[in-house]
Amino acid sequence: MKGHPFFPHLMAMLEAADLARGIHAYYLAKGFTQGTKSGPTDLVTQADREAEAAIKDLLLSRFPEAGFLGEEGGSEGGKALRFVVDPLDGTVNYAHGFPFYGVSLALEVEGVVQAGVVMDTARGEVFYALRGGGAYLDGRPIRVTERAELLGSLLATGFPYDVAQDPENLTYFARALRRGLLVRRPGAAALDLAYVAAGRLEGFWEVKLNPWDVAAGWLLVEEAGGRVTDLEGRPYALGHRYIVATNGHIHEALLRALLQD
Ligand code: IPD
Ligand code: CA
Ligand code: CA
Ligand code: CA
Repeated sequence: MKGHPFFPHLMAMLEAADLARGIHAYYLAKGFTQGTKSGPTDLVTQADREAEAAIKDLLLSRFPEAGFLGEEGGSEGGKALRFVVDPLDGTVNYAHGFPFYGVSLALEVEGVVQAGVVMDTARGEVFYALRGGGAYLDGRPIRVTERAELLGSLLATGFPYDVAQDPENLTYFARALRRGLLVRRPGAAALDLAYVAAGRLEGFWEVKLNPWDVAAGWLLVEEAGGRVTDLEGRPYALGHRYIVATNGHIHEALLRALLQD
């Protein structure tokens, strides 16, 4: 790992994740102001904003040539090499003290994610990967599961804040449940992907995620031996409306289950 060209970036991203963890914990203990964005359930707290500012300061001071794309601040700088950051994934969980939230940081180089970090800032678990260097949880290599049967696999999904206006995933969710599949809706997409990588879930899908939700988790799943596509089975790319990430073994069966009545 140390010889990887983006190892220094990964080290800085791990430091930035720790900073975010401190900020999440600080505001959880002290109390935070909150507001809404696109609608009444789309929350943003002081912790989201302050974590993004701190992450951005740290990463751009170490790598001044880099661009930055963050959920709360929009984009800045070039795209040749940029950090793609969700400073608090699972804001609704966080705001309720429901301990399933974290921070997601990715390094994208010429459109390819080269390094990814997802930290569960409630538990302190850190998942990270370098392209070609494998995926790790707290320093130990992780792998997707070997389970090949869809029925009995544990799956996760999520819904956009405007699900009432854009209910497409309700169709897939209902199909999955009608087939007797085991589906959770944990509420933090970056962690859902990290859980596929770590073998805690066999699969995850969602509609309408943003690059900051998935960039790091996508790399984690691939480096842990899994498969990530769109709903038609085409290779995933940042910005796609659909993402399906699995251990690989159940992938085709999951795509069929979601697409067929
Ligand atoms: C949300 C979470 C959630 C997913 C939503 C995302 P946020 O991100 O990842 O699990 O279902 O689509 O917007 O707003 O908590 O960073
Ligand atoms: Ca998010
Ligand atoms: Ca967020
Ligand atoms: Ca948000």
